Amino acid sequence: MHVFRPTLQQKQPIKNVVVLVLENRSFDHMLGWMKKSVNPSINGVTGKECNSVASPKSDTKPETTICFSDDAEYVDPDPGHSFEAVEQQVFGSALSASASEPKSIPSMSGFVEQALSMSENLSATVMKGFRPENVPIFASLVTEFAVFDRWFCSIPGPTQPNRLFVYSATSHGSTSHVKIQLAKGYPQKTIFDSLHENNLDFGIYFQNIPTTLFYRNLRKLKYVFKFHDYDLKFKRDARNGKLPSLSVIEPRYFDVVGFPANDDHPSHDVANGQKLVKEVYEAVRAGPQWNETLLVVTYDEHGGFYDHVPTPYVDVPSPDGNTGPEPYFFKFDRLGVRVPTIMVSPWIKKGTVITKPKGPFPNSEYEHSSIPATIKKIFNLSSNFLTHRDAWAGTFEQVFDQLTSPRTDCPEVLPDVTPLRKTEIDENRDVSEFQNEVVQLAAVLNGDHFLTGFRDDDVAKKMNVKEAHEYVRGAVSRFVRASKEAIKLGADESAIVDMRSSLTTRSSSIHH
Ligand SMILES: *[C@@H]1O[C@H](CO)[C@@H](O)[C@H](O)[C@H]1NC(C)=O
Ligand SMILES: *[C@@H]1O[C@H](CO)[C@@H](O)[C@H](O)[C@H]1NC(C)=O
Ligand SMILES: *[C@@H]1O[C@H](CO)[C@@H](O)[C@H](O)[C@H]1NC(C)=O
Ligand SMILES: *[C@@H]1O[C@H](CO)[C@@H](O)[C@H](O)[C@H]1NC(C)=O
Repeated sequence: MHVFRPTLQQKQPIKNVVVLVLENRSFDHMLGWMKKSVNPSINGVTGKECNSVASPKSDTKPETTICFSDDAEYVDPDPGHSFEAVEQQVFGSALSASASEPKSIPSMSGFVEQALSMSENLSATVMKGFRPENVPIFASLVTEFAVFDRWFCSIPGPTQPNRLFVYSATSHGSTSHVKIQLAKGYPQKTIFDSLHENNLDFGIYFQNIPTTLFYRNLRKLKYVFKFHDYDLKFKRDARNGKLPSLSVIEPRYFDVVGFPANDDHPSHDVANGQKLVKEVYEAVRAGPQWNETLLVVTYDEHGGFYDHVPTPYVDVPSPDGNTGPEPYFFKFDRLGVRVPTIMVSPWIKKGTVITKPKGPFPNSEYEHSSIPATIKKIFNLSSNFLTHRDAWAGTFEQVFDQLTSPRTDCPEVLPDVTPLRKTEIDENRDVSEFQNEVVQLAAVLNGDHFLTGFRDDDVAKKMNVKEAHEYVRGAVSRFVRASKEAIKLGADESAIVDMRSSLTTRSSSIHH
């Protein structure tokens, strides 16, 4: 049967969306200084944004402050961004709040205080932003295409809950990294499922391991052919016009010699993140699908770095009624800190700055759930919204509705990137908390969790970055191979392969 789809489908020029989510940097940290030298209409920084070093204990003592500077470079260690840390950053400490100002209105005044509680030197680090010339790819894309200067992460907390929002508009009640849930896989429906229901294709182009496997549904046999090795396939698919409706680019989360991490997570060098964005842009720009493509680059969360825009806290809808764990019982009723979001398409006017959305609700904002919300809209998916949150989040299809034909003046090549880090990669360092979670995921895929039982003294704790990287690569390829074999044997498409531990004897079975 031929289905004729009139109007919207024909007018709306975007047929492929490419999404790249980097790690742990706030808007002001990455793009704040672009107000001064790239585009004055950006809501960035002037250098007059300051945080007190400590809460004033009395009115008589003058308080010391640290103001925002432009000398951000290579950052190590990592600033705080747990739920509790972000609460302190956004509201300031209870001590400094006066009685008339209840601790419910974000003042963005506690970043220095919070950093100081972790390490003396970190307090200045969180108040630094990059000079545009040190993030040349972003400077170029912000000049040429669109920047969102009011896009927030979905929850005031760390990576995984925020990453979960990007493709499912909820973290299913998680406000932190819940190891057992990450390992078992989150049960909620995703935008990938909606695309699949509507016979539209998607692809996950991963480098070390696809963290989209934290969604349980994506482990199902029916999706195993959606996972592609970025290095082998992305440029080729772009060149051959084979990019699916939604392409997800997963960065390299491990820093090993010859393959530096490019996720921008401290201590990783942002120059490698810049190189990845450059590579993705140039591949898409050169391909036959360029005129139908939208590239979205955003950050999962602010990583503890200062941002001056108060986080929205009024009538933000809970996605699904789940609440966070004790002692906060967070109701998912306020957003996280503002993060950089850049959009690229030949349908975007040069130098566009997008601020607040015009609906669907009077208080709607751009946040990570805007991605599934917009995908549903531009592809006219018949599937329902995923949660109350993507039904509320602003959509951005009007950004590429301003021109009557695609631009022909978009650069084919972006500037070269020079490394900011002066030191060598240390692949023998211990895995970070985030890398540890990724290893947990690999352990599940590999069947090794039966031996470790999700305890804290788990597989990853014994590994350094290099070993973890190798383990993760091996686990993913075994899981994919076993899934493909199961399909050949006629297993049900909604089944998930259950590996037996490599530490005992290798085999697999199918779970429904
Ligand atoms: C969108 O899809 C619905 C069916 O789900 C269809 O009735 C409608 O005509 C479509 N709209 C456009 C603009 O294609
Ligand atoms: C802070 O930095 C200085 C030099 O920049 C160094 O000597 C000192 O050990 C650092 N302190 C901490 C707590 O990291
Ligand atoms: C930022 O990094 C921390 C520390 O590695 C991690 O726990 C948290 O999940 C991070 N968010 C990101 C983006 O990793
Ligand atoms: C994109 O559209 C422009 C303007 O119509 C055209 O000149 C160009 O060749 C097109 N590029 C591709 C890759 O189709």
